[in-house]
Amino acid sequence: MELAIFGAATFAFALRARARASAAPPPKGAPAPALHLGKDFAEKRRRVVEGGVDNLHLIFDFDRTMTTYEGPRGGRGATCHHIVEARRPRSVRERAEALNGVFYPVEISARLSREFKLPVMEVWYALVNDLLVETGMTRADLEEDVREANVALRAGVAGALAWAARHDVPVTIFSAGIGDVLAECLRQLVGPLHPRVRVVSNEMRFDARGVLVGFAPRVITPFTKNARDAMGDAPFFGELCARRNVVLLGDGPGDATMADGLGCETVLRVGFLNDAGAALRQLAEFTAIFDAVITHDGPADPLLSTLLRDVEAASARAPAPAPVPAVGGAAAVAIAADAR
Ligand code: TMP
Ligand code: MG
Repeated sequence: MELAIFGAATFAFALRARARASAAPPPKGAPAPALHLGKDFAEKRRRVVEGGVDNLHLIFDFDRTMTTYEGPRGGRGATCHHIVEARRPRSVRERAEALNGVFYPVEISARLSREFKLPVMEVWYALVNDLLVETGMTRADLEEDVREANVALRAGVAGALAWAARHDVPVTIFSAGIGDVLAECLRQLVGPLHPRVRVVSNEMRFDARGVLVGFAPRVITPFTKNARDAMGDAPFFGELCARRNVVLLGDGPGDATMADGLGCETVLRVGFLNDAGAALRQLAEFTAIFDAVITHDGPADPLLSTLLRDVEAASARAPAPAPVPAVGGAAAVAIAADAR
């Protein structure tokens, strides 16, 4: 591991280990991913570690956070939407690309405000949802769409899911992509998900023949990602609120609010600033909202694996937890939610 100094307020570890599964090594001369740590990182990390496994909740954005920005076959990795569009007729792909060309620059613009972006994103989602319904695609298409997709998990993500499953730590995958697609991706890339992994995302609606006929009324866009609005009525919400500490990982400014409404004490935010150009233009914006920023499509590890290792070690040292109260309280809500 190489140490580089990027300024007085931040420092960076050059992360050489681009151990992304099945991806080619980075081209010679490509800039190395760097990790920038904010002033609150060490204290928040300390609190997360001290809280141990019983107080932890992991929240992941999906597209280009759990997955890489660069696809395993080169070029941009596919998002959930790209995955289903890729095998539809050419005219559909062209219309989706045209929409992407108009709306994606709005999503990632550093100049436009969240207030401006919010309704614009809703228009994008409405148009794309209608386009996908028009194709008459089926649930059965999804499996093949994912099998053919240019998509890979970011190094460290599969290990974190396995670790969370071992320790019964809840994981929320909070995505403005498509829940049905991301669940199939994870099924193919890591296998069946632990029951405490919840997907909060846009949901496809299929008819009795398995044909896509619409989407669930609650639309999640990149700027409506807060826990209160998106999952406040979910049966597992009480269980999540009872967890004191969240470690959140995302790749866009809208991901920084994913834990809002959970009322937890500590939210440690990790941001992936994937695009090389953005790493220059948006570093100040990202370091202002994320406690750690990993640039250039770098791996989640060693940051994530060492954090989880330390959380586990702290739990092993801690005395046994107090017994769960028989009635009332957050713990009772969590148990009731699990029993459903
Ligand atoms: P995420 O919340 O899991 O990152 O997923 C949302 C991403 O999906 C966001 O970056 C925009 C992207 N997207 C597309 O690639 N195509 C689309 O048609 C739409 C609506 C979103
Ligand atoms: Mg994303």
